[in-house]
Amino acid sequence: MELSNLRLEVMKFVGQKIDYFVDEFLKPIDTNWQPTDFLPDSRNEDFLIQVKELRETAKDLPYDYIAVLIGDTITEEALPTYESWLIDVVGVDQVDEPNGWAKWVRAWTAEENRHGDLLNKFLYLSGRVNMRAMETSTQYLIADGFDIGTGRDPYRNFVYTSFQELATNISHRNTAKLAKEYGNTPLAKICGVIAADEMRHAKAYKTFISHIFEVDPSEMMLAFEDMMKKKIVMPAHFLRETGINMGQTFSHFSDAAQRLGVYTTYDYIEIMESLLKDWKIEGIQNLNDAGEKARDYLMALPSRLRRVAERTKIPNIEYQFSWIS
Ligand SMILES: [Fe+2]
Ligand SMILES: [Fe+2]
Repeated sequence: MELSNLRLEVMKFVGQKIDYFVDEFLKPIDTNWQPTDFLPDSRNEDFLIQVKELRETAKDLPYDYIAVLIGDTITEEALPTYESWLIDVVGVDQVDEPNGWAKWVRAWTAEENRHGDLLNKFLYLSGRVNMRAMETSTQYLIADGFDIGTGRDPYRNFVYTSFQELATNISHRNTAKLAKEYGNTPLAKICGVIAADEMRHAKAYKTFISHIFEVDPSEMMLAFEDMMKKKIVMPAHFLRETGINMGQTFSHFSDAAQRLGVYTTYDYIEIMESLLKDWKIEGIQNLNDAGEKARDYLMALPSRLRRVAERTKIPNIEYQFSWIS
């Protein structure tokens, strides 16, 4: 993809605020929560008693729910894919400008790294998971990478990350809500605290896009349109298990999430609507003809998607994941 030098200039311009972005949207490391805050401390005398309690409360979590939690964990643990992707985006340069956008990518990664870590440890202690099968899927997913349709374009990438941080906020928020309903308060806290991180991150990426809209509205609008035309794929869309084709496990994971209401087509549409509102798409000025057309497409998209969603059924087929046994 040929990108204009304007992209680079815009990234430089918006990137002048990196320190502000890090302070505003990320938490200071020393006082930030760490996975251990939500797990039994293995130095404690009563560690084994606490683990036993954790296993007792995990016993009754439904099959689909465990499957979704595992899929969420693997998605979080494929963080190397996301960091390496972002570091390669036009305007991000860790060699010559380590304190520019690369600084943001590193600091964001450092926060994200806690998510998979915490969920993984919880699942390990829960006694519900075939950890080896899950770890195999994680290794596959990182090895397979992803194909998100952004190229190295910062505009498309920030649309993707804005969308995805909101999507993960919703799914972790819903697993927290369900954990509470199942009477599992510690797990509700775990999912809740991750969901809160995702929301802060979403605000950051949405802010980057707002800044780009101010200086390069038509190109930004076209990038947004292009991403929505392609549809935003989930970062774990290549998810698989041993003996299963690439991507096939993902569709079973996604069906389970739809059945539970953890992440549905309607959430996708609501995210789209919230982005239109947050970026004030309707009122953006100084668009060229192509930009105006892209805006028309975007504004009409949610109701079009709703019509399609009403006709789509969620498959009810039970699937046996190798992760749970
Ligand atoms: Fe995350
Ligand atoms: Fe995230």
